[in-house]
Amino acid sequence: MKNQFDYLVVGSGIAGLTFALKAARNGSVAIVTKKDKVETSTNYAQGGIASVFGGDDSFQLHIEDTLRSGDGLCHPDIVDLVVKNGPERIRELLDLGVSFNRAETAPDQFDLGREGGHSRNRILHSQDMTGRAIEKVLIVAAEENPNITIFEDHTVLDLIIQHRSLRSGSTSLYKQDVCRGAYILDISRKEIHTFIANAVLMCTGGAGKVYLYTSNPDVATGDGLAIAYRAGASLANLEFVQFHPTCLYHPQAKNFLISEAVRGEGGKLIDRRGNAFMEKYHPLKDLAFRDIVARAIDTEMKSSGDDCVFLDISHRNADFIRQRFPNIYEKCKSLGIDITTDPLPVVPAAHYMCGGILTDPKGQTTIQNLYALGECACTGLHGANRLASNSLLEAMVFADAAAAECSSNIEEWRNRTLPEVPDLSTRIDQNAVSNNEMVLVAHNWDIIRRLMWNYVGIVRTDRRLSLALNHIAQIRMEIGEHMPQIPLNSDVLELQGLALVAELIIRCAMQRKESRGLHYNLDHAQKDDAAWLKDTIVTKYPGEQFLSAVGFRPDEPICDPPPVLSFQHR
Ligand code: SIN
Repeated sequence: MKNQFDYLVVGSGIAGLTFALKAARNGSVAIVTKKDKVETSTNYAQGGIASVFGGDDSFQLHIEDTLRSGDGLCHPDIVDLVVKNGPERIRELLDLGVSFNRAETAPDQFDLGREGGHSRNRILHSQDMTGRAIEKVLIVAAEENPNITIFEDHTVLDLIIQHRSLRSGSTSLYKQDVCRGAYILDISRKEIHTFIANAVLMCTGGAGKVYLYTSNPDVATGDGLAIAYRAGASLANLEFVQFHPTCLYHPQAKNFLISEAVRGEGGKLIDRRGNAFMEKYHPLKDLAFRDIVARAIDTEMKSSGDDCVFLDISHRNADFIRQRFPNIYEKCKSLGIDITTDPLPVVPAAHYMCGGILTDPKGQTTIQNLYALGECACTGLHGANRLASNSLLEAMVFADAAAAECSSNIEEWRNRTLPEVPDLSTRIDQNAVSNNEMVLVAHNWDIIRRLMWNYVGIVRTDRRLSLALNHIAQIRMEIGEHMPQIPLNSDVLELQGLALVAELIIRCAMQRKESRGLHYNLDHAQKDDAAWLKDTIVTKYPGEQFLSAVGFRPDEPICDPPPVLSFQHR
């Protein structure tokens, strides 16, 4: 089936929905999402949205905190844009019906929380389920909008790219390529459909599942990064993977985050003997920047041999804890831990990808009419370490900018004369190959995640990184060999993307011969501003070769040639 829309939005979290609601004012929007529409990272965001509303706060302070957290790699113009747009974007959420907690003593003001690295209280929150409150409201608005169609259980195979020759003398790779839509797998019907669109918006979220331990939901497999890279878009700063310091350590607590807001309300990190340890590592103690707290916990665990550390908020009033953190309280209680009386066991886990698909201030990637918004994008806001609770804000600000840009271009795009896109819509032939080899998919999935955790984690070394690269090359070759034996399905696609993203993270980490923000390498333990105050840009092929490739081909080999890595000064 061939579908035609003005906009194809891939992903149904805050970035995709915010864009869709704005773009639907003057065009038709398809939102494709690979599982249930609310199964997004947004839905699990506990902490909140950072923005300047406090009487003692200012844009300048929020900007300074963001820059300090980013450790030299934030783009100041982008930080300025995002911070100053914050209050307006928050008001739009309020108008849609999202409710944030209000101060008990002054109900006309927000109850602003504190998280690591913020010098003022500035986190708007809906108890400890802020993302859920936002997602719910945005989904209802999208479902009620006649210009928006949501396709659940649909996943992108590849983007449809029209390749155009570069003007002679141009040094800009791919800028002439245009995205025309995507080939999409309807997972339940086992059919491939062709979606044509004037603009495609990648809003696919993060890649936490590349790591064995993560706070992310199962959908966070980095698909958007892999898809954009395969299409020829540039990616940036993939070495900066943020590990959240505190995920619940319990065999039945898959991916359960303990919000930094718990430390914001006075929670203390302690070791097994009850000793608080953060003062050894940073003057801001438990509210130091996230990279520092995660590394401190890693150091404590390695030196003590303990499996976890503990977070203790039991000194606060029990009613307050239950009211402020109902979700965390209930989850811990269901596992036999009462956080009003006992410290809870925690470990760091992969949480947020600070790098992603390279974009300009309008969310435009290096391919025309292809945009990236939210966690899958690298806009320049986060630098080497994202400041807590800046990401929902970033998603809304860039969705707004992209929607404004697209709306101003849509008439011109509709009037373009473009060549016909080949319709590859088809049913997947289930009889062609056997399904017996799914064990290979499960096995490779597991090895990649362990490899990344052990060799490309919070603390890295040159040797571990180079071993990881050898292993991942081997695994990707094996995946290439057994893919043809397995009918096309979403698990295989996710594995293929996950392996590619893992390789790109390793390659980016190997290039950066210094330690900065979230990238910490024992063999290059110092920060080196003279040499490394740069973004890491990774792009697929050297120019011309790619110009002959066309869209998705079911028989295309999945082992790409090694990527071309280049570094670009800010
Ligand atoms: C948290 O609640 O600790 C997560 C907030 C964030 O990652 O921005």
